[in-house]
Amino acid sequence: MLIIGAGGIGLRHIKGYTQTGRARLSVVEPDDKKRADMAQKFALVDKYQGIGQADLNSFDLAVICAPAHTHLPLMTKCIAADLPFMVEKPLSVSMEGVQDVLEKVKAKNLLARVGFTRRVADELQQLRSDIQAKKIGDLKLIYMNSSQEFPKYRPDFQSTYYARPEMGGGAILDAASHLFDMLIWIAGRPKNISCMYDRLVLQGTQTEDTCLINVCFESGVMANVVINQFQKPNTNQQEFIGTTGNLMLDHSKLIYRNSDAATPAQTRDFMDGLVPMEAHQARFAMQANYMMDALEGGPCHLATLEDAELNLRLALSAKQSWDERRIIELDY
Ligand SMILES: NC(=O)c1ccc[n+]([C@@H]2O[C@H](COP(=O)([O-])OP(=O)(O)OC[C@H]3O[C@@H](n4cnc5c(N)ncnc54)[C@H](O)[C@@H]3O)[C@@H](O)[C@H]2O)c1
Repeated sequence: MLIIGAGGIGLRHIKGYTQTGRARLSVVEPDDKKRADMAQKFALVDKYQGIGQADLNSFDLAVICAPAHTHLPLMTKCIAADLPFMVEKPLSVSMEGVQDVLEKVKAKNLLARVGFTRRVADELQQLRSDIQAKKIGDLKLIYMNSSQEFPKYRPDFQSTYYARPEMGGGAILDAASHLFDMLIWIAGRPKNISCMYDRLVLQGTQTEDTCLINVCFESGVMANVVINQFQKPNTNQQEFIGTTGNLMLDHSKLIYRNSDAATPAQTRDFMDGLVPMEAHQARFAMQANYMMDALEGGPCHLATLEDAELNLRLALSAKQSWDERRIIELDY
């Protein structure tokens, strides 16, 4: 496996692939110190300063975890070498060149997936299968709120891609794109998008820390997505409202209500008995196993390039909506 980019998320992937016990790893990382650190901490086969130094034909899979503005050229190199890949989210920072990548991957029938990690979570898989089984009747409306003090979780945020819109930072491309993936996976293709966004509190960045987004899907389902990245409490709630009941994901808790009773009809905490950071890291090992199973011909429910392309159009349309003060309609 070739891990491309050994920053915050690259480290998670290196640990994740190592934890599977199925992979031998090499790393591409331009930063000399980080490259040396990784080589010291992990049993790497090789390390390279740039992708050009690696013999791509000698690898089974690339994991692209450099910032989003580099994804397109890195994917293009993998495709040219017929190297399957998993690329981190978001797919890119503009639509330029994206269709070309999708077409080439399709023409070569190359395995390619995108790192929207939440698809790996058992609670989200359960929620999706409950909705498909009509547990809440017909899904009509979705409310999502993912808000927390981002600098507490990412103290270096001012010096990473997060601070720069052209590198894929900010509440919409960086954070909301995870929620968009849940929406696209569950509600299908988005049709109309409206949004407001701003940088209300965080200093030292050129990106928005807050967004209020409304989406209407082709299916008629509507969704409201709100994010702020400065509030003290860590809120992570997604509520799916159907004609006969509601399903709410509250962090790792899945809550089912089918009346106005004070106590929910069902509650299950998927993190019960687990250590949060270990469980988070375990998801990267699960994702790695899914990718390697897919390489061996198994099915794979991780986000496709087509899902990620829709996701990117949704994110860019949200920004366009506020920039132009209008509702954006997507064409298919
Ligand atoms: N799935 C998730 O939960 C999740 C979480 C955080 C970040 N991400 C995504 O992962 C990507 C990287 O984020 P991060 O937090 O690790 O950023 P980071 O800044 O911590 O690390 C990025 C690393 O990539 C290296 N790099 C830059 N250009 C490169 C190139 N051309 N080739 C190889 N390496 C290169 C940098 O030197 C740096 O070490 C982004 O797309 C981000 O959106 C995903």
